[in-house]
Amino acid sequence: MTTAKIGLIGLGTMGSMLALNIAEKGFPIAVWNRTATVTHAFKADAGALSDKITATETLADLVAAIQPPRAIILMVPAGEAVDQQIAALRPLLDADDLIIDAGNALFHDTNRRAAEAANGPRFLGIGVSGGEEGARHGPAIMGGGQQQDWDRVAPILTAIAAKYQGQPCADFMGPAGAGHFVKAVHNGIEYADMQMIAEVYGVMRDGMGMAAAAIADTFRAWNKGPLQSYLIEISAEVAAATDTHSGRPMLDMILDRAGQKGTGRWTVIEAQHLAAPIPAIEAAVMARNLSSRLEERRAGEAVFGPAPHSLPEGSLTLAALEQAMIAGKILCYAQGFALIAAASAAFDWPMPLPAIARVWREGCIIRSGMLNDMATALTEDPKRNLMLAPFFADHLKATHPALRQTIAAGALHGLPLPALASGLAWFDMIRTGRSTANMIQAQRDFFGAHGFDRIDGREDKHGPWAGHGI
Ligand code: 6PG
Repeated sequence: MTTAKIGLIGLGTMGSMLALNIAEKGFPIAVWNRTATVTHAFKADAGALSDKITATETLADLVAAIQPPRAIILMVPAGEAVDQQIAALRPLLDADDLIIDAGNALFHDTNRRAAEAANGPRFLGIGVSGGEEGARHGPAIMGGGQQQDWDRVAPILTAIAAKYQGQPCADFMGPAGAGHFVKAVHNGIEYADMQMIAEVYGVMRDGMGMAAAAIADTFRAWNKGPLQSYLIEISAEVAAATDTHSGRPMLDMILDRAGQKGTGRWTVIEAQHLAAPIPAIEAAVMARNLSSRLEERRAGEAVFGPAPHSLPEGSLTLAALEQAMIAGKILCYAQGFALIAAASAAFDWPMPLPAIARVWREGCIIRSGMLNDMATALTEDPKRNLMLAPFFADHLKATHPALRQTIAAGALHGLPLPALASGLAWFDMIRTGRSTANMIQAQRDFFGAHGFDRIDGREDKHGPWAGHGI
């Protein structure tokens, strides 16, 4: 019976796809699902791969089917289900067996589970990105825990991962929850990338009056340039699709209310704790939240009239819009990597920034051509903010005027561009040697005698308004 190299619990969409991927790469796998009929149906439907799959009916059978020291992947919904599954498995496992949580866990939970695993069984938290297709044919994998545990399962994880020019998009990110933290930042960037694409789509649809098919063509063309990415590619595809019921563009038939499972919010909350500004991601989460307030938006439109107006003929070109999107994307990624750098320092986790960019080049939702340039820039100097790397600084110098022009046009004509605009504000603030925070310091000192530093180095810490505060 003990033929399986690895086990997997949870045969939902992602779990089944991951199990088939593992079997296909030649690793015998034992699987278990709460409902035994699902487990047997999974094996029966696995075709030629079924020889590599052991379907088990109880957790004890699952454990017995795996070669020790065992490794078992959990693909169950994040949260309590993971804790329950670990509690059920623990008495059946040896101290050197390894539980691998491959779901979208909150990294604080992974930290706790890693600490609880101190006396075994051992624990790894891995972020897996790429949706159903990625899980089946090659996801990006971000591992966290103890290096020796990662090394033990790395042959399987690198075999099933996506490859960028032959290099596996799977790597070890650091201790405890580091893998899930990196996955959360990935998702934050995913939210911002998607939001910026939605914003430029809005400029084309509402500002330029373009039909969905023309928008699809534009995205298709952009996908051949610096914006080449999975998200631009699928945006072209969804814009080109026709609704089979109405015959209208599919996009026009979809309610404008975005869903979310919360990973973007986690990223934003953590960024606030770390005082690491990620305004493009914050704006993207805000925009999803606002999008869901349909009734409120309709009430607003009834009082103030619809916001988006057409842009005056010739006021903004598609080339300028593409440049704006390039600038916005660089700024958003620079924020995401800066957040990871801040977390590395705060948590004392040496998270490898160049390796993160390398892992994101293929398999994951934010995969894009630009990530290879980011990997190169971060390899040159992992401590430098990405926007200061000469390659990206040159790109930004060339494109930020178009970003300004786009945002100005949006502001004048009621086209909301929150992610693009907040990226620009961040850019302008981070390149301002003399900011306006002297006013904040003066106000704080006025009402609370909080004190300030002077630019001339004198020791006095208070203004002439002493005693005027409350
Ligand atoms: C991935 C994705 C995935 C995420 C979905 C839905 O990397 O494969 O990030 O993990 O769950 O994209 O996320 P939302 O429901 O929050 O949009």
